[in-house]
Amino acid sequence: MKPPRFSIPAMHLLTSLTYLSSTKIFTEATSDPSSGCKCQPSQPCWPDSDAWSKLNRTTNGALLKTVPPGIVCYPGPAYDKEACEKISEISVYRKWITESPFNVFQSGWNGNPCPPTNGTKAKEPCNSLLGSPVYVINATNPSQVEAGVKFAKKHNIRLIVKNTGHEFLGRSSGAHSLSIWTHNMRDAEFTESFQPKKCSKTKPHSAVTIGSGMQWRDLVILAHPHGKLVVTGGDPTVGCIGGFMQGGGHSPIGSKYGMAVDQVLEIKLVTPSGKYITANECENPEYFWALRGGGGGTFGVVTSATIKTYPTQPISVAIQTFNLTSNNTDIWWDWMAYVHSDIPRISDAGLMGYTFIFPNGTERFAYAAALMMVNGTAEEAADILKPVYANLTANSKYKDHIIYSHTNITFPDYMSYFTAFFQTGATQTGAAVLPSRLLDARALTEDPALFAATLKKMWSPFVGAYLGHLTAGPGVAQYKDVDMALNPAWRRTYNHFIAASGWDTPDQREIVLDNARNVLEYNLRKLAPGTGQYVNEALYGSEGWQAANWGANYPRLFSFKNKVDPQGVLYCFNCVGSEQWVEGPNGSLCRASWA
Ligand SMILES: Cc1cc2nc3c(=O)[nH]c(=O)nc-3n(C[C@H](O)[C@H](O)[C@H](O)COP(=O)(O)OP(=O)(O)OC[C@H]3O[C@@H](n4cnc5c(N)ncnc54)[C@H](O)[C@@H]3O)c2cc1C
Ligand SMILES: *[C@@H]1O[C@H](CO)[C@@H](O)[C@H](O)[C@H]1NC(C)=O
Ligand SMILES: *[C@@H]1O[C@H](CO)[C@@H](O)[C@H](O)[C@H]1NC(C)=O
Ligand SMILES: *[C@@H]1O[C@H](CO)[C@@H](O)[C@H](O)[C@H]1NC(C)=O
Ligand SMILES: *[C@@H]1O[C@H](CO)[C@@H](O)[C@H](O)[C@H]1NC(C)=O
Ligand SMILES: *[C@@H]1O[C@H](CO)[C@@H](O)[C@H](O)[C@H]1NC(C)=O
Ligand SMILES: *[C@@H]1O[C@H](CO)[C@@H](O)[C@H](O)[C@H]1NC(C)=O
Ligand SMILES: *[C@@H]1O[C@H](CO)[C@@H](O)[C@H](O)[C@H]1NC(C)=O
Ligand SMILES: *[C@@H]1O[C@H](CO)[C@@H](O)[C@H](O)[C@H]1NC(C)=O
Ligand SMILES: *[C@@H]1O[C@H](CO)[C@@H](O)[C@H](O)[C@H]1NC(C)=O
Ligand SMILES: *[C@@H]1O[C@H](CO)[C@@H](O)[C@H](O)[C@H]1NC(C)=O
Repeated sequence: MKPPRFSIPAMHLLTSLTYLSSTKIFTEATSDPSSGCKCQPSQPCWPDSDAWSKLNRTTNGALLKTVPPGIVCYPGPAYDKEACEKISEISVYRKWITESPFNVFQSGWNGNPCPPTNGTKAKEPCNSLLGSPVYVINATNPSQVEAGVKFAKKHNIRLIVKNTGHEFLGRSSGAHSLSIWTHNMRDAEFTESFQPKKCSKTKPHSAVTIGSGMQWRDLVILAHPHGKLVVTGGDPTVGCIGGFMQGGGHSPIGSKYGMAVDQVLEIKLVTPSGKYITANECENPEYFWALRGGGGGTFGVVTSATIKTYPTQPISVAIQTFNLTSNNTDIWWDWMAYVHSDIPRISDAGLMGYTFIFPNGTERFAYAAALMMVNGTAEEAADILKPVYANLTANSKYKDHIIYSHTNITFPDYMSYFTAFFQTGATQTGAAVLPSRLLDARALTEDPALFAATLKKMWSPFVGAYLGHLTAGPGVAQYKDVDMALNPAWRRTYNHFIAASGWDTPDQREIVLDNARNVLEYNLRKLAPGTGQYVNEALYGSEGWQAANWGANYPRLFSFKNKVDPQGVLYCFNCVGSEQWVEGPNGSLCRASWA
């Protein structure tokens, strides 16, 4: 079965919205070099080559020195015309990023050092790594991770973690850093009944223990012969238990099963002080609490985790479209407000998935949704949506301006659904900008007129699409009493709503960010003042990000971060505790003057 064009997951759409850029972004704020900056390669504090060789030996030769692969396209000793053509060709595939030790998707935030040039020789030489790490440990076991963390701590070097590089805010790269690359820790062990050792608090569950490099499509395929499904993300190459899970992890079937953090039974990690530990409800429970939603790259380097599995299920998908056929945009936004006000109802009735609102020429709009039902029939799914179509066709206000279609596809099991719907896209070489908000029932239903006016007001050429994620609902609400770091706002969310934007060239950056902050995010927040946002898919530099990402959990996260990582061995942008650091000119990273 060939899925329709618009059945791709919400995030794939961004691929077409964003393009190349090549400047490093540095936030402007005051730093206090005297109170401590991370060491840079040009400085005397930087370890000499003997020290790096020793680290290489300690890690059994897993240390890589970063050389941008595009260097073969640049003037200098490495120039190689043929190699340049070859590398330019492969650099458009996602594999290029997910299987690289340092390439990342949102290269707009890290400077995109020496990109392949499409076969033509570049004018200037390639002589800076910009936001890429200087060295990378190609880790395959926890002891290599321990060695890397200890080395970075001892020498006061910035430490980062890269798994797949899907990060939207540049957190899997960092200037003058040592990186732990987790991609090659990929074991998977299935068990019918897992319970953490000596921990009767946790109810036994069928589960799989996976290495932190595991990616969703690979795990879905491995689980299938066991008759199991796993609560995946909506993308084949996002990592299962890296930044995705640690930030929350929303799933196409989350509205039945919960989020990625709700599946975790046990986590193994290397702490910021370089100790390999186990965290679960009984052992190191505060790490277990923080790692379920507190964000990646902050509390340690996760090396493996055990997550729940479930019997696989048939999946029915209803594909719904609405198209505006007149130029009456007021009627369109009214209709969209109505469709959104109905989300809590259809969600409670068992539908879940993704929606898109996108332009169709000037003054025309289209809407497409892929709404899934787990273990339901096409008829059951259609029945839930019938009142919506009845309203459209019965209402003369709408019926002359909007047309609809409804089709369905049914998959016998989760694997056939996942592999058909979520396909690997092309690389995304610019920077997406994602002002967004978690919308609860109140925001969706209370004031449809305000909702319509807000969507209308926010729409402009800055916006590629409005992306709706119906990935929370009852499945996520069912875990509301479990104590973990995840933003509590998720527990009453029905739609994680993104006004997707992005910039192509550096000169557009500030204009796009300005609009995202002052128009898009501003208005979304007014729509749902008391909720929050999703740390992994939020606006770069969002104001008040601490409260928006974690709500009332922030103070506890902040003090735990400072307790387990007082030296700030792990730093990432807008991560817990990062306000104590300032990224300065040329990629410097210093303690903030107040901290
Ligand atoms: C195409 C696409 C589709 C997406 N779909 C979804 C979706 O359906 N649902 C959803 O919730 N999100 C989705 N996301 C967002 C996704 O959750 C984030 O991009 C997430 O950060 C990816 O985690 P990663 O480990 O794969 O990527 P990376 O970029 O490698 O890492 C992300 C962050 O986690 C840290 N990190 C990675 N591994 C570890 C580790 N083992 N220990 C400690 N820290 C670690 C990194 O340092 C970095 O800060 C999508 C993103 C893209 C680009
Ligand atoms: C680390 O050691 C391996 C194997 O000895 C070698 O191939 C590699 O080049 C070394 N890495 C660095 C950065 O020197
Ligand atoms: C590379 O060439 C392809 C095909 O000609 C083109 O579509 C693409 O835009 C070019 N990319 C760059 C970075 O010039
Ligand atoms: C990383 O390590 C794995 C396992 O040892 C190896 O197969 C792979 O080639 C290494 N990757 C790089 C880029 O060195
Ligand atoms: C645009 O709208 C027209 C009808 O006015 C429809 O035929 C067409 O499919 C729509 N295209 C898109 C991309 O929505
Ligand atoms: C919409 O289209 C009609 C007919 O083409 C035209 O008369 C009218 O002015 C348009 N309205 C707007 C708001 O552009
Ligand atoms: C149809 O939609 C409008 C809002 O656009 C709403 O006021 C009305 O209650 C809906 N009717 C039904 C029968 O759902
Ligand atoms: C799936 O649906 C069938 C029929 O309604 C029901 O008997 C079965 O228990 C359901 N399976 C699960 C796992 O919910
Ligand atoms: C589902 O799709 C099939 C084939 O296109 C169609 O015959 C059937 O009527 C549809 N069912 C529903 C409930 O939409
Ligand atoms: C609306 O536009 C989309 C995108 O072009 C198209 O696939 C869909 O068939 C259209 N729907 C109707 C009812 O024309
Ligand atoms: C940044 O780098 C440039 C060029 O190497 C140098 O001239 C400048 O002094 C550096 N600035 C800081 C603050 O280190």
